[in-house]
Amino acid sequence: MRIFLAGFGVVGQSFAAQVDKRTQELVRRFGLRPRIVAVSDRGGVAADPKGLQVKRLLEVKAAKGSVAADRSFGKPGVSAAEALEESDAEVLVEVTPTDIKTGQPGLNHIMTALKNRKHVITANKGPLALALPALLELAQYNHVILRFSGTVGGGTPILDFAKKCLLNDRIVAVRGILNGTTNYILSRMTWEGVDFSTALKAAQKAGYAEADPSMDVDGYDSATKLVIIANWVMDMKVTLRDVSVTGIRNIDLREVKNAYDKGQEMKLIASIDSKLTVEPKPVARTDPLCVSGVLNAVTFKPQHGAEQTLVGPGAGGIETANAILRDLIEIKQALYPTFEV
Ligand SMILES: NC(=O)c1ccc[n+]([C@@H]2O[C@H](COP(=O)([O-])OP(=O)(O)OC[C@H]3O[C@@H](n4cnc5c(N)ncnc54)[C@H](OP(=O)(O)O)[C@@H]3O)[C@@H](O)[C@H]2O)c1
Repeated sequence: MRIFLAGFGVVGQSFAAQVDKRTQELVRRFGLRPRIVAVSDRGGVAADPKGLQVKRLLEVKAAKGSVAADRSFGKPGVSAAEALEESDAEVLVEVTPTDIKTGQPGLNHIMTALKNRKHVITANKGPLALALPALLELAQYNHVILRFSGTVGGGTPILDFAKKCLLNDRIVAVRGILNGTTNYILSRMTWEGVDFSTALKAAQKAGYAEADPSMDVDGYDSATKLVIIANWVMDMKVTLRDVSVTGIRNIDLREVKNAYDKGQEMKLIASIDSKLTVEPKPVARTDPLCVSGVLNAVTFKPQHGAEQTLVGPGAGGIETANAILRDLIEIKQALYPTFEV
């Protein structure tokens, strides 16, 4: 399968390395031979219809800062959208930075690919939070597949679990801890009795929080993931505007201690019932949702069966790259279901 990789940072490089390392296994087990025919970053594009060498891409990126600096295949200054129009890639893997205000540049990349009848896999939450219902319709209209399992829970298959394993039932409510950074901060406040700003600094030092932590601590990262769950798992047609969001910035240490004394812990809970909400709430320590540190956890409430809780690491370059690979295998199987091992 011919792949256009938009974004060559932590996730993009990790995905390329995985593809390179596991090609033989993918051919043997799934009849899938991934071939990266174009890669883009902010400096431009590198493209070769015969397939680019991953080792060489990584070396050029490390040495020169951009894949476009490759002497044979580089096209400095060419945008991903321009290159996509001309590319014969069958699948776009979109892993540029998340922007929840405009969705760009990912939104443009995804729309260009879908309109050009290319399948799309993305780990970029911005375009989905703003326009997932429209993007799913565009994919359907063009008879192509849009997948995004790495956007929620990193490598933990939260979306696939709810969509496929609970297929026989209907999910009527969801409660989850969808952001590892805020959970780490709240865990430190709970267990070490430190205030919010001290816990935030510890999260930044440990590499869990960005220098600008607002996406996480103000609740918007959780809200974007909630929107994706609502659309994909519960067939709702909602965007970020439909979520009521309160972050953890103003949490007082006394609230955290009071909850603890009552056998509870303060958590940033993202929930869907009659409405979509992200807000700090006390959770009983006996609740399976009450996980510590950077873990994520989601409880699905089906209409007929018992509640199910899934726990796992919420992010990470390798985990997310693996989720992208899972989506790629799924697209291959949907297109060519008759492959036999
Ligand atoms: N890292 C994780 O654990 C994780 C987990 C789940 C989801 N995600 C999501 O996955 C996406 C990628 O994350 P990341 O950690 O890999 O980010 P990253 O390291 O910042 O990499 C982003 C890449 O996108 C490129 N880029 C930026 N603007 C571009 C443009 N206009 N056209 C083409 N390329 C452009 C950057 O180019 P330069 O290299 O030239 O700067 C870089 O290669 C984000 O949306 C993120 O939210 C990440």
